[in-house]
Amino acid sequence: MEKLLLPLLLFFSILLSPAAYTPPDHFFINCGSDTNAIVSGNPNRTFIGDSVSSGSLSFSKEGSYVTTNNQTSEVLYQTARIFKQQSSYEFDIDAGGTYLVRLHFFNSTNVSTAVFDVSAARFSLLKNFTILRSSTNDSNSPLIDEFLVSITQGKFSIHFTPLGSSFAFINAIEVFLAPENFIPDTAPTSPSNNHGGILSHALQTIYRINVGGAKVTPENDTLWRTWIPDDGFLYNPKMAKNSTPFSGSLKYQGNVTDFIAPYPVYRTAKEMNIDSSRLSNTFNVTWCFNVSKNSRHFVRVHFCNIVGKTDGNIIFKLYLNGIYPRKINPYDMAGTLDTPFFLDFVLDSDESGAMNISIGPSEDSPEQKTAFLNGVEIMEIMGESSVIKPDKSKKTVFLVVGPVVGGLLVCTLAVGLFIVLKKRKRTPVETSVWSPLSVQGGGSSHSKGIDRTINFSPVPNLNLALRIPFAEIQFATNNFDEKLLIGKGGFGNVYRGNLKNGLKVAVKRGQPGSGQGLPEFQTEIMILSKIRHRHLVSLIGYCDERFEMILVYEFMEKGTLRDHLYNRNLPCLPWKQRLQICIGAARGLHYLHKGSTGGIIHRDIKPTNILLDENLIAKVADFGLSKLAPMDQTYVSTGIKGTFGYLDPEYFKTQQLTEKSDVYSFGVVLLEVLCARPAISRDPQLPREQVNLAEWGLLCHQKGLLDTIIDPSIKSQISPNSLRKFAETAEKCLQEDGADRPSMGDVLWDLEYALQLQQTAVHREPHEDSTTDANSGLQMIHVQRLPSLSLQVEKDDMPILGDSTTDESLLSTSEVFSQLRINDAR
Ligand SMILES: *[C@@H]1O[C@H](CO)[C@@H](O)[C@H](O)[C@H]1NC(C)=O
Ligand SMILES: *[C@@H]1O[C@H](CO)[C@@H](O)[C@H](O)[C@H]1NC(C)=O
Ligand SMILES: *[C@@H]1O[C@H](CO)[C@@H](O)[C@H](O)[C@H]1NC(C)=O
Ligand SMILES: *[C@@H]1O[C@H](CO)[C@@H](O)[C@H](O)[C@H]1NC(C)=O
Ligand SMILES: *[C@@H]1O[C@H](CO)[C@@H](O)[C@H](O)[C@H]1NC(C)=O
Ligand SMILES: *[C@@H]1O[C@H](CO)[C@@H](O)[C@H](O)[C@H]1NC(C)=O
Ligand SMILES: *[C@@H]1O[C@H](CO)[C@@H](O)[C@H](O)[C@H]1NC(C)=O
Ligand SMILES: *[C@@H]1O[C@H](CO)[C@@H](O)[C@H](O)[C@H]1NC(C)=O
Ligand SMILES: *[C@@H]1O[C@H](CO)[C@@H](O)[C@H](O)[C@H]1NC(C)=O
Ligand SMILES: *[C@@H]1O[C@H](CO)[C@@H](O)[C@H](O)[C@H]1NC(C)=O
Ligand SMILES: *[C@@H]1O[C@H](CO)[C@@H](O)[C@H](O)[C@H]1NC(C)=O
Repeated sequence: MEKLLLPLLLFFSILLSPAAYTPPDHFFINCGSDTNAIVSGNPNRTFIGDSVSSGSLSFSKEGSYVTTNNQTSEVLYQTARIFKQQSSYEFDIDAGGTYLVRLHFFNSTNVSTAVFDVSAARFSLLKNFTILRSSTNDSNSPLIDEFLVSITQGKFSIHFTPLGSSFAFINAIEVFLAPENFIPDTAPTSPSNNHGGILSHALQTIYRINVGGAKVTPENDTLWRTWIPDDGFLYNPKMAKNSTPFSGSLKYQGNVTDFIAPYPVYRTAKEMNIDSSRLSNTFNVTWCFNVSKNSRHFVRVHFCNIVGKTDGNIIFKLYLNGIYPRKINPYDMAGTLDTPFFLDFVLDSDESGAMNISIGPSEDSPEQKTAFLNGVEIMEIMGESSVIKPDKSKKTVFLVVGPVVGGLLVCTLAVGLFIVLKKRKRTPVETSVWSPLSVQGGGSSHSKGIDRTINFSPVPNLNLALRIPFAEIQFATNNFDEKLLIGKGGFGNVYRGNLKNGLKVAVKRGQPGSGQGLPEFQTEIMILSKIRHRHLVSLIGYCDERFEMILVYEFMEKGTLRDHLYNRNLPCLPWKQRLQICIGAARGLHYLHKGSTGGIIHRDIKPTNILLDENLIAKVADFGLSKLAPMDQTYVSTGIKGTFGYLDPEYFKTQQLTEKSDVYSFGVVLLEVLCARPAISRDPQLPREQVNLAEWGLLCHQKGLLDTIIDPSIKSQISPNSLRKFAETAEKCLQEDGADRPSMGDVLWDLEYALQLQQTAVHREPHEDSTTDANSGLQMIHVQRLPSLSLQVEKDDMPILGDSTTDESLLSTSEVFSQLRINDAR
């Protein structure tokens, strides 16, 4: 595509105030104009006309033209650029970091019919955008959409894609580096949980509220933001009143600068409207915000004690969505009066699309029993949706599961050890895929107590919507045709199949009528039916008719990651693809750990448990129930289970299982992906220190010799920066002490960064970084009530429908499904 290159001089007028922010990298563009527009503010900004030549800005010229608006509007909005085909603006970014990206749209007859998408870097920013969705009824104010995007050094593009026969338009663009540490990568989701990897997503500002105060316009904000008054959001306006505005100077301190929020935000507040004539003055003040349904948000609440009269203190409570009360003690947070502070959270919206923030008194308050709030910001974490909150049904699940798993544990430890001792000779530990120590797979012994004529009537908690009639399964597998057999295991046989709706599936059938492993079967359904994630192999359905125990999973066309690393008959995976697979698997694991169904520890991460679909999208398989972390404990103490070579040494020593054990195993997988060398080498020629990949890899890395053990077939593709980041990540995962290892969220972020470093290192195709990856964010969706025959799985999670497999891939998939066991005892 032909690009119009424009040399551009960007500079600011002399700063008048020390508070003025001069972002190191900044672009303010007056689109469709050949003149610069000066926009007043602190400092005033020059929006460069995009038809004025510039060195560090270019945009697609083809299909682009200029339109003008009614001359009565602001200079910035008198022109717009129109694109009739996919087009982009490209910026040269010198300093990587979190950028504020603002898109200005102004309605006029010439643009009111436009419908288009906007994406930037790998994020989809606006979908199916039209100016008509603008909620402002003031035809003279623009619609400004603001995003926070992490950008690495190099080219940054904003793409406009007209939909149908329509066109795209834009009036003005702002792209500038946010002040350091503006948004953290991790924020609490509840008192005991953190959400990491925030910065690996794009954030869209939904609300920015100056509580108790007037609108703050870009002109008066340190980062040219708009803060709107809160009155329209108060649930019960009578319960709150504006505090007396503070007129002195605020004591900004530490990382709370006026970039976080300017003076006008902190100098005003709302407080409880205490009325002595009321019977009780104990109540909450609630603000209610309309947000997207079932999505994840970054929420920042601003406080500054301008309410207290003396240096005494007011302690009060903050509730988000009516849950997890947090005690706010301004004295602890800020020390003195008039000192701003803020708190960040990650908060999910539910089906109602409403989000509540409440403040209320605390019995601990030494001074007045009141509460106050100065500001609120709500940003949607794009591409990340929430899952069902813990609710009553979940509680019941745990009530049911608890005793079952607990009982099994005791039973298994005894029985399992016995089996291990007996079986050792036959079953090498490394290949103990069907590990006899599996908690739920407690051998056949524990099920001896279960009568063969056990009642198969559904347990109340089974997800009946996932039930598939036996006839449908017979149809799908051609009545369990031997030719479709792709695996055998302790549980029974695994068949390839096609459901009537064309869905390709893997069907696992327990030994018919044995009644063996029934509780595990039911527990598996209860838990797996709640887990649905792009990077986890999903349960499509089950069948419990006629004493059958059948589980139906999505079919994974391309087999295991292990095959692709070692099977010479398969094409060698390029480095970028390997990185993407690692990122996918990391996302899946992160979800298991931290998703709200979460608290699940995988315990057996290895390349055979990372499966690849038709498009080589990685999905983690074999996440079992035995590994559900108890609700209020930080670790699970249980019999050692896992695979030699991947086993966390700390877990081995202490027998305390934490999420960090998965992180360790994942570190081994990272090395394996880099070196294409098994975790435990069986080559008898190798010196002892080289046998264990984790040890050998770390040693090589420390000596700076990692180069020597990289898979030779990809060595030349890896950019040094990407390698450095990747190796560092693996090293961190392999730390001896679990506490020193990163969370999966951090690992995910590091890997994405390694991918970005790889991408910026190589030649970039024009739209390489456009929308293709936009949906790879943690996709968490509700438990689907799937009718057995019309499976409505969200597009992103759609199991892949493939062509009929050849014998060759049949071979490679047979190993896959031996991994898809529920446990070995069925
Ligand atoms: C900003 O622009 C306004 C006019 O729009 C002007 O009055 C003011 O002096 C300018 N301020 C600075 C700092 O240049
Ligand atoms: C629409 O654009 C044309 C030129 O492209 C211009 O002549 C006309 O005035 C514009 N209409 C309005 C209402 O701005
Ligand atoms: C421009 O807008 C104003 C009011 O918004 C209107 O009175 C005027 O007629 C418009 N001019 C044109 C050329 O459309
Ligand atoms: C946008 O402009 C068109 C034409 O001027 C007008 O008919 C429409 O009502 C406007 N829409 C909004 C949301 O302001
Ligand atoms: C886009 O929005 C229009 C209405 O604004 C709607 O009819 C259409 O279905 C939407 N398309 C998509 C793909 O969401
Ligand atoms: C929008 O219209 C309503 C009533 O029609 C009015 O109360 C409100 O102030 C208007 N808002 C703006 C921003 O003009
Ligand atoms: C900015 O703040 C000053 C002083 O507080 C005020 O006089 C002015 O009206 C404000 N400007 C805007 C556009 O709000
Ligand atoms: C600000 O500093 C405090 C104390 O040093 C720290 O707890 C907090 O995490 C910091 N916040 C940010 C966003 O950096
Ligand atoms: C939120 O949505 C509800 C229903 O959709 C609507 O009645 C209410 O006015 C909205 N509130 C705000 C503040 O937009
Ligand atoms: C928000 O608060 C209102 C009023 O207390 C309540 O009806 C609603 O269910 C709450 N919504 C959420 C998501 O907590
Ligand atoms: C304030 O709201 C929380 C959460 O909804 C609730 O638990 C608490 O009882 C409320 N307090 C008062 C005084 O109403």
